[in-house]
Amino acid sequence: MKRDEFSGFFGVLVATVGSAVGLGNLWRFPYLVGQNGGAAFILIYLAFVLVICLPIMISEFIIGRRTQANTVKAFQMLAPRTPWGAVGIVGVVAAFCILAFYTVVGGWTMDYIFRSVIHVFSTPDASAIESQFAALVTSPIRPIFWTILFILLSALIVMSGIKKGIEKYSRIMMPFLFFMVVILMIRSVTLPGAEKGILFLVKPDFSKINTQVALAALGQAFFSLSLGMGCMITYGSYIPKRENLTKLAFTTAMSDTLFAILAGLAIMPAVFSFGISPQEGPGLVFIVLPRIFAQIPLGNIFAVMFYLILFIAAITSSISLLEVVTAYITEKLKMKRKTAVAIISALVAVCASFSSLSQGVLQHVKIFGKSIFDFFDYLSANILLPLGGLSIVLFVGWYIKKSTVYDEFTNQGTLKGTLFRAYYFLIRYVAPVAIAAVFVDLIVR
Ligand code: TRP
Repeated sequence: MKRDEFSGFFGVLVATVGSAVGLGNLWRFPYLVGQNGGAAFILIYLAFVLVICLPIMISEFIIGRRTQANTVKAFQMLAPRTPWGAVGIVGVVAAFCILAFYTVVGGWTMDYIFRSVIHVFSTPDASAIESQFAALVTSPIRPIFWTILFILLSALIVMSGIKKGIEKYSRIMMPFLFFMVVILMIRSVTLPGAEKGILFLVKPDFSKINTQVALAALGQAFFSLSLGMGCMITYGSYIPKRENLTKLAFTTAMSDTLFAILAGLAIMPAVFSFGISPQEGPGLVFIVLPRIFAQIPLGNIFAVMFYLILFIAAITSSISLLEVVTAYITEKLKMKRKTAVAIISALVAVCASFSSLSQGVLQHVKIFGKSIFDFFDYLSANILLPLGGLSIVLFVGWYIKKSTVYDEFTNQGTLKGTLFRAYYFLIRYVAPVAIAAVFVDLIVR
């Protein structure tokens, strides 16, 4: 049977942008910008996306499309009888760990949608909203119910395959997502006093920049573009041979960045308009924004829109993580897709339930001094992703034959490949050094 693939440029793009645009853009990016000097952080972030992450995304596409296999087999095919396959395994494990906390936050977004619909956010009182949030995350039942529903929906999409599942649903959801975030942005920038928020996003304060901030920007770029664990290798394996990988990677990276900035513009002006500090941190979207929704006219409608955006962004990322594991299991164990997805989702549901409970009744259970939730987060984002990213650039830059890389970069010589030398230089020298720096920093912190 012919292996499933995406239908064409737009089909691939909605899927890769769907994977990239996620909680990273809407939740992590705005609060990092808030804590790290606004526009200056954005400029550094942009530079990293172009110089380091774009070449890595092209490399992941190259590994995937060359082999048309799941991430473990891809490494084994390009490096037979070597331990390189382990990089693929680490990727599969990372996907699993990210899913174990990502789906919990996905569940929270569903609870927030539900509560916005039934008009619960009607108080601007900060401590009331904070205790509502605490009540949700510490409850032993409510968040698990939503998390399991979230996993179930992701599973249904992935069960339907690449073209008829992931691509089909991304085609519907992604344009809607961009449309809604633009509406929200317009609302936010027209609030009284919004200028201060806009200024914060466009006027760089370079005095805030130091190595810590730079490294935070690189780590964020990695996470936001879904790099370092074979997500883009797996999606890359479904890219038709005729598509231009550089163009795809460039468009994906730019769309993701555009979305992050739109999200910033949808959030920061509103935050400033209500005189709240931009440095609120992780509680920004779940604690600060409800206070704002309670105070603007038609706030409940905007609240529903916002949490719907958060939900869509999260689920299109979650399916890309699920697909990494699914592709591996179906191809390795010759299992039917539906069976594989069912088994994997059940396992994810168990791990996610534990990570959800670790916010409440299992609070005292610590792994290396961290709650289960934080452990999955830390292990994946701070250890497995940088490790995977470093391995991938070393693999493409130093292990695979240059002619093989060139061949895939230029679609067997049919594209001009003008940028190949720049790409190869970045992947060989610049990216490994930069990732190693982030890695060391993340470990010692
Ligand atoms: N990029 C997504 C976000 O911004 C999350 C994500 C999906 C991810 N797949 C990934 C992160 C793979 C790292 C690796 O929310």
